[in-house]
Amino acid sequence: MEKILVLDFGGQYNQLIARRVRDRHVYAEIKPYNAITTGEILRQGYKGVIFTGGPNSVYDAASPHFDPAILKAGVPVLGICYGCQLMAWMEGGEICAANDISEYGKTVFRHENSLLFQNVPRESVCWMSHTDYIKRVPAGFRVTAVTDNCPAAAMEDAERKLYAVQFHPEVTHTQFGDTMLHNFLFSVCGCTGDWRMDDFAARTVAYYKEKIGDKKVLCALSGGVDSSVAAVLLHKAVGKNLICIFVDHGLLRKDEGDFVEETFTKTFDMNLIRVNAQERFLTKLRGVTAPETKRKIIGEEFIRVFEEEGKKLGKVPFLAQGTIYPDVIESGSKNADTIKSHHNVGGLPDVIDFDEIIEPLRDLFKDEVRAVGEALGIPKALVWRQPFPGPGLAVRLIGEITAQRVETLQAADAIFREELENAGCAKDASQYFAVLTNTKSVGVIGDARTYGETLALRSVTTDDFMTAEWTRLPYDVLEKASSRITNEVKGINRVVYDITSKPPATVEWE
Ligand code: XMP
Repeated sequence: MEKILVLDFGGQYNQLIARRVRDRHVYAEIKPYNAITTGEILRQGYKGVIFTGGPNSVYDAASPHFDPAILKAGVPVLGICYGCQLMAWMEGGEICAANDISEYGKTVFRHENSLLFQNVPRESVCWMSHTDYIKRVPAGFRVTAVTDNCPAAAMEDAERKLYAVQFHPEVTHTQFGDTMLHNFLFSVCGCTGDWRMDDFAARTVAYYKEKIGDKKVLCALSGGVDSSVAAVLLHKAVGKNLICIFVDHGLLRKDEGDFVEETFTKTFDMNLIRVNAQERFLTKLRGVTAPETKRKIIGEEFIRVFEEEGKKLGKVPFLAQGTIYPDVIESGSKNADTIKSHHNVGGLPDVIDFDEIIEPLRDLFKDEVRAVGEALGIPKALVWRQPFPGPGLAVRLIGEITAQRVETLQAADAIFREELENAGCAKDASQYFAVLTNTKSVGVIGDARTYGETLALRSVTTDDFMTAEWTRLPYDVLEKASSRITNEVKGINRVVYDITSKPPATVEWE
């Protein structure tokens, strides 16, 4: 199988580079710069190597460097940002700190003829983010692109298949970045692009089959896309030696607990323990109205329940988690303000007695995880399931949580989702749900006064959930949902539609 090595020098877009390569159906592996030798790169037959960006300056002795032999080994190399400067430095070029001309953001660059810039207009926009720059390219290299401030925005020694760009072709702000990566993979490295997600699934299954052998693995299954795909992958590898614990906190959507149980026990014949813990969660949540307190209680209680169930099984050597790449970035960001505490299964490793964590999806982005799910034959309803928060309906029930209010919200939410889906609007909406607002208002039915609760409908459209637009749902869909909800769900006499984007609002109300 043809594969590309992404050599990691600490840049923030490294996973994105690997992902762009996989998008072009070439398998990409990321390794820390000091985790592989030139000899090993050759032995493993990589079709090409990409040096990533990084925060350092190449001329500092403590900065990450790589064995210069790689540039003489005949393997195509593409250096990006720090990787570009590193290539120049390893070959004897001159790198300087550009004190007054550091470039950051969208920048126009102009290129010369080059295999790397095939089908790229002579002048276009790239994404720059650097302070150091290449003052003099090494002997044997030629400058292939410049910007107003950067005398060597790209350089190459085409004969030795060594290419380097100061900017970031992997980010979408670089207008023709995809074309450049395509050129590197196909025209320079000679890849054919025959890799598919099925291969990832098959390789991962084979890898864990070998690694786990006949030992046992424990997995917290929520029914969400990530933990489901991770569990099915591992089930294919170790069968009944995978034990899934599904903690049903009673705050799932209508009939969801049964759907999860049925899918995994019937469709996949998995070893699944369902813990019905609604009473227990409701007791802990009694009288609690503060959003962060709700989140903390649910997160902690989830861990307690899991711990108790886990203990019954004795020591299990492996703990599997459905961590995906965006989770890795989020938990790595130290400076971000805590808007909401996301619990999920983050605290489990502290309470479960195990030897090793297994995270088979750690390098993948959400849509790649979905592609693996499809390759594994997981039902579409699950693979394309909209995101659902760990604390469940608790963050959609403003005020106190009671069994009665949960039931009311479940019923109303199910009607809204059904109407939206029946009307064919689901494709335009990334997430849609109902919120019980804890606001009472006066209404009238027949000749009688009512005093009931207000339900809010929320539907958002977004790529990444960091920002979101409210979905422009047709009035007749909203009308039908409103009319059915007020007729069919006891206690709700008013329905409103949330027309706030994120920011300033968040997707969930709590
Ligand atoms: P917010 O409300 O922060 O939501 O704009 C952004 C996305 O994250 C989901 N969300 C959560 N997911 N655990 C999760 O796994 C949580 O605690 C949690 N809180 C919010 C939310 O549904 C939306 O998709």
